Amino acid sequence: MRRKLAVAALAIASLGVGTAVAHADPEEVEPAQQAGFDFGNGQVVAEGHSIPWGLAFLPDGRALVSDRDSGTVLLYNESGASEVVGEIEVPPPDGPWDERGLLGLAVSPNYEQDGYVYAFHSTDQDNRVVRFTIDDFAPEPILTGIPAARNHDGGRLAFGPDGNLYITTGDAQDTANAQDLQSLAGKILRIEPDGSVPADNPFAGSPVYSYGHRNVQGLAWDSSGEMYASEFGEDAWDELNHIEAGANYGWPVVEGSGGEPEFTDPLITWRPAEASPSGLEIVDDVAYVGALRGERLWTVPVSGGEAGEPTAVLEGTLGRIRTVEVAPDGRLWLATSNGSGEDILVRYQPLGGGSDDPMRYEAEDAPAVCDGTIDANHAGYSGSGFCNTPNTIDTASQFTVTADSAGEATVEIGFANGSSGGARGADVVVNGSTVTSTSFESTGSWSAWSTKTVTVPLNEGDNTIRLVATGWDGLPNIDYLDV
Ligand code: GCU
Ligand code: CA
Repeated sequence: MRRKLAVAALAIASLGVGTAVAHADPEEVEPAQQAGFDFGNGQVVAEGHSIPWGLAFLPDGRALVSDRDSGTVLLYNESGASEVVGEIEVPPPDGPWDERGLLGLAVSPNYEQDGYVYAFHSTDQDNRVVRFTIDDFAPEPILTGIPAARNHDGGRLAFGPDGNLYITTGDAQDTANAQDLQSLAGKILRIEPDGSVPADNPFAGSPVYSYGHRNVQGLAWDSSGEMYASEFGEDAWDELNHIEAGANYGWPVVEGSGGEPEFTDPLITWRPAEASPSGLEIVDDVAYVGALRGERLWTVPVSGGEAGEPTAVLEGTLGRIRTVEVAPDGRLWLATSNGSGEDILVRYQPLGGGSDDPMRYEAEDAPAVCDGTIDANHAGYSGSGFCNTPNTIDTASQFTVTADSAGEATVEIGFANGSSGGARGADVVVNGSTVTSTSFESTGSWSAWSTKTVTVPLNEGDNTIRLVATGWDGLPNIDYLDV
């Protein structure tokens, strides 16, 4: 189920002096575009979860979600309905602080050909990576023997731009593991999709890609292919690191920046109370870091292995944030980690640039209602389809839109009307009253999309905007409203 999340005004809190250390000159690393996401308007995709952990998208936009403690893999479709894909047996949690279970998920970069989904999970003996297909849920181990413990299990999976699978691990509560190249704990690992070791890994024959990590749960790449990872420190410094093949990140000899030549220092350090960074995603060269203890989302411009100054958003709005992933349609999804069935999956629309950018409402997305079918048979639409009403008078395409304040709003309607029959008329009914009417001229072809702008009065909060056909040929095909 989905509903609009009422969240406090977008909080862009800048950091106090001494709370974060950016080693790069912040001037040098500007965000690729000053945009980001509409963090004031979250859309809850799912609620009632307990510690959702892994999140990965199929190419068609459906979302796979893992629940850590139950081992369940769920698949969410565009309208927010879910089905259970399967269940992976995981050890029963040894108290509330047990970090083991079903953790990261990743979708094969060749999903259309091979159908593989990858998962990281704990057993009684180890942590391991398995793969399965959605139709035939028979998890096949592809990397086993990663040391497991009640705490410090890493668990993030991500395919890199090189097509290899990267795996984050924790030191499994034995700090010596992190410097031990024979142990898979306290590492970032890199394997081929079939589990074999790439020939160009830094330590011949070993999946170890980088070492000296305490507990890494976030992994992402910038537009130039540089890799970054978020890491939990012990009690002094959490980290955002630039990851390079074969590099040693210092744990347990140093936490945070030690300045010693044999260790690579972090790009950014945070106090654990403000961070405890788990999931990491990079969009348009801005890193989004989900903070558990810090209960906020850190945003950090990154580029070519350097980082700019961190800024926090969503502070105190969602509680603990575990997972951050961008969907194929460009929306940013977060999963919370508050437990007790209180967890949600929430997503945010990308912003185009300025602060008064319109919000896009797709005709195919609930709570929108289409008196007809959601079709996708004509190219060029936005989102995953459009509303095709029957060719009958009084049929409608209805949207629920949210306004920050009451007043006149400009509404741009995306449509196609390839009919040779000419323009089609519609009444614009807002919150039950007809406020204006408009007409949609022919666009020449059903895959030629155009826009029509109307001005309507809106109340503060949710409003329904209903387009109602005034002619016997129904509405044109309606794609979206920009409000
Ligand atoms: C065609 C077209 C539909 C459209 C319909 C109409 O059938 O494929 O997408 O809705 O015409 O005239 O309304
Ligand atoms: Ca139609």
